[in-house]
Amino acid sequence: MRAADLLEWAERSIASSPAIDHWEKRGDRHDAESLLRHVLGNELEPRADVPAASVRRYRRLVERRTLGEPISHITGFTRFSGLRLAVGPGVFVPRDSTEWLAEQAIRRLRGRRRPTAVDVGTGVGPVALTIAQRVPGADVIGTDVSRVAIGFARRNATTLDVPVRFVVGDLLSRIPRSRAGSIDVITAHLPYIGRAELSLVPDEIAGFEPEESLTDRSRSGLELVERLSKEAPRWLRTGGWLLVEVASDRSREVATLLRRAGYADVRSTYGGMRWSRVVVARGRGGAVTTPPGGRARKSHPSLPSLHVTGVTSRL
Ligand SMILES: C[S@@+](CC[C@H](N)C(=O)[O-])C[C@H]1O[C@@H](n2cnc3c(N)ncnc32)[C@H](O)[C@@H]1O
Repeated sequence: MRAADLLEWAERSIASSPAIDHWEKRGDRHDAESLLRHVLGNELEPRADVPAASVRRYRRLVERRTLGEPISHITGFTRFSGLRLAVGPGVFVPRDSTEWLAEQAIRRLRGRRRPTAVDVGTGVGPVALTIAQRVPGADVIGTDVSRVAIGFARRNATTLDVPVRFVVGDLLSRIPRSRAGSIDVITAHLPYIGRAELSLVPDEIAGFEPEESLTDRSRSGLELVERLSKEAPRWLRTGGWLLVEVASDRSREVATLLRRAGYADVRSTYGGMRWSRVVVARGRGGAVTTPPGGRARKSHPSLPSLHVTGVTSRL
């Protein structure tokens, strides 16, 4: 059978599947091509004949896709910031929109003498690995409650040969005490869907990605983020940053929550994807210094200059 005919059949099958939320233009064609490339080992010549065994295998994979299974769970990998990451059933698949979270962290870490970062709810490690790869000498830790996710993250670190320590644990609970007050940046892309909204999440996501990666089962969906906002100051160095990725329509709430928790310079940043934002906030911790004859004031070591381009503050 010719590759072109197979692709046409696959695109039609995927396009008519009610289990898929066909929101992306050309997404069905893209899925059909990705799966065929996966079967043929990246060779995709539309006029070429596909061997019978590959046709059978392709049909089985397309059928899995029509049942809603994410492409990355089927192929076993995804790409994030140029990194090829292993993923699979039982883990959250990193989204392109999260590249903005990694970018925000990198801008704040570059130029520091001993840059340190913690990525909370790291999943298979996209943000932590991108930071470690792009910030020379960075000391990066990734944490997640999911053993399965941390298993994938460690495998990714080994395959990519990128030095990140991945630990299983609730939020910051497994960070060594000696690190208190020394972290430059904490990144978090945690669940933020309220328990009542979970029923509105498309089956394609809710049926395949773990519930604990989508919701904390609180009413607002923001209890984990709130808890993190209370725990983070203990770990951040003076003027260190907490960066939280959330859906655009939750960013105002998260910004308010961070201001109430005492953070400074809180803003919602836009990285080009209309459905997500990264709320950035600076910890106010720091040594209290008393200038001669003056009143006590907090010291803020200078930050490396941030050449933030293309950032729109929506708040
Ligand atoms: C939306 S996923 C994001 C994963 C990853 N940051 C990414 O962008 O691909 C949220 C992650 O938070 C993790 N998580 C949920 N509750 C957590 C907790 N209490 N402490 C640490 N991680 C948690 C989940 O297991 C999941 O991997």
